[in-house]
Amino acid sequence: MKKNIILIGFMGIGKGTTARAYTQKYGTFIIDTDDLIESKANQKIKDIFKEKGESHFRKLEQDCADWIEASVNNTFISCGGGFYNVNNLKKLGTVILLDASYEWIYNRLLTAENSKAKLKKRPLFSEPKKAKKIYKDREKAYKKIADVIISVEGREMDDIIKDIYTGSYI
Ligand code: S3P
Repeated sequence: MKKNIILIGFMGIGKGTTARAYTQKYGTFIIDTDDLIESKANQKIKDIFKEKGESHFRKLEQDCADWIEASVNNTFISCGGGFYNVNNLKKLGTVILLDASYEWIYNRLLTAENSKAKLKKRPLFSEPKKAKKIYKDREKAYKKIADVIISVEGREMDDIIKDIYTGSYI
């Protein structure tokens, strides 16, 4: 079993922020699947969606998962919201889900300092109604695939990262 932390959860729940807080405290190396895909494709996610479509992006996510399986260990991996669907997720490490209500996530994005940019870079959040439907469609699947579920709503970051530390093995 690999000793990676695989952090999953809905768009905008704060996976990247949590990963950065985690490395500040525990010193683990962190990578982000969206960043890996953007740098390999030399294209922003929103442009990949626009020019090549979502199904192409999902293929790139699978390529990324295959590379992680072959090459990455002892690393904190923050994943795009749809990455939980790759066919080898459980082989990549301990799967940790950040969980919160849709309303809390949407409000977090709306009240963020760089709210416009955060919404713009996420094509699937262009229409809040559609995003809510995606949330509802994925809710059960996220919980089913996770080894550990961590509720983040209204909680301090320090407590969240302690829970991740306790729930994982790196
Ligand atoms: C997606 C989430 C995004 C990004 C892409 C698709 C999704 O990542 O991978 O826009 O399907 O939920 P974040 O979860 O970091 O927003």
